[in-house]
Amino acid sequence: MADFRTLEEAEGLKGKRVLVRVDFNVPMEDGRITDDSRIRAALPTIHYLSLAGAKVVLLAHFDRPRGRREETMSLRPVVEPLSNLLEQPVAFSTDCVGAVARKVVQGLEEGGVALLENLRFHAGEEANDPAFADKLASLGDVYVDDSFSTAHRAHASTEAIARRLPSFAGLAMQAELEALDSALGHPQRPVIGIVGGSKVSTKLDLLRNLVTKLDKLAIGGGMANTFLYAQGHDVGSSMCEKDLAETAREIIGLAGKNNCKLFLPLDIVVAERLAAGVPARVRGLGALDEDEKILDAGPETIARLKRAIDNSATLIWNGPLGVFEVPPFDKATVECARHAAKLAEAGKLVAIAGGGDTVAALHHAGVASEFTYVSNAGGAFLEWMEGRKLPGVEALRGR
Ligand code: 3PG
Repeated sequence: MADFRTLEEAEGLKGKRVLVRVDFNVPMEDGRITDDSRIRAALPTIHYLSLAGAKVVLLAHFDRPRGRREETMSLRPVVEPLSNLLEQPVAFSTDCVGAVARKVVQGLEEGGVALLENLRFHAGEEANDPAFADKLASLGDVYVDDSFSTAHRAHASTEAIARRLPSFAGLAMQAELEALDSALGHPQRPVIGIVGGSKVSTKLDLLRNLVTKLDKLAIGGGMANTFLYAQGHDVGSSMCEKDLAETAREIIGLAGKNNCKLFLPLDIVVAERLAAGVPARVRGLGALDEDEKILDAGPETIARLKRAIDNSATLIWNGPLGVFEVPPFDKATVECARHAAKLAEAGKLVAIAGGGDTVAALHHAGVASEFTYVSNAGGAFLEWMEGRKLPGVEALRGR
């Protein structure tokens, strides 16, 4: 049984006003949504509640208006695409609290859906203000949190509200928590992690946590350069946080103490500048010219990483292995992603990935849908990988 309250446990929903926290913080250009994945992710919960005869009231934020009404940050542009996807009308309230919101909620029929305006137009939202949470809670009888990607925020609509109403995880939240548990909570072993990206400094807590939980950890991308430098290898003019060499050695030591096998690059792909199609050379470690930069992992590293994935039951991936946006430096990321995807499809690997760059890299490799689970959460996914408790999840625990 899950250690948080699930939607299945919510009884007698017919006629109830159900407040659902969703994440509609979607990429938008000129008022048009360019990627509706987050809206689609909320559909199963909305359908479920609507079919159960609930009056569904959606709570969401968009961007960071910092407690002020900013018309460019209105959620109104979401209404039509949402209504098209749901194939039913969606009412819109120009405020998320007060008389306007109450009237819109009162006007809902059983099974009806309303979206309330950007929660962050009120400073009380981000302040997790009790009075603001009371106002929100007064609009509903039940609260459902379907937004893992905002669960790292202790805001009125993610934390305080869950303490005021009977509260449950929505279907997307439940799927996400179960997938994450299968990667780091109760995984099938051995578990391998791949952590990449440009800077070690942004992922220190994450690396420190992972080496205590994983059997193997591959480090790639720009951050691997710092580790190579810390081991005494020349990194030419590559991106490298030299001041973190000591920290990198500390992480290497911590991995050793926890029996976590570290995989650093064995060979590298270098070029004199970062541009699409520039001549790229494979080099052994330490064999760089002064003006060369490391931009991807080399073929030996890729082959060894594929073997390590073959010998694992679970993979958790955050961050690309090279500069995947600029071919040919996408090779390590693409090859390893495709390899993992094939194993996942064959049921031989539980492959979980998350974080903005990682999702983009998997789409670039054309394998996002073949992974067992891909999280669209940014900050929340990272904080979870760091082993932190997320306020929005904690508020759903206990029975
Ligand atoms: C996200 O886009 O990661 C979430 O919607 C959270 O947004 P925030 O970083 O502005 O809190």
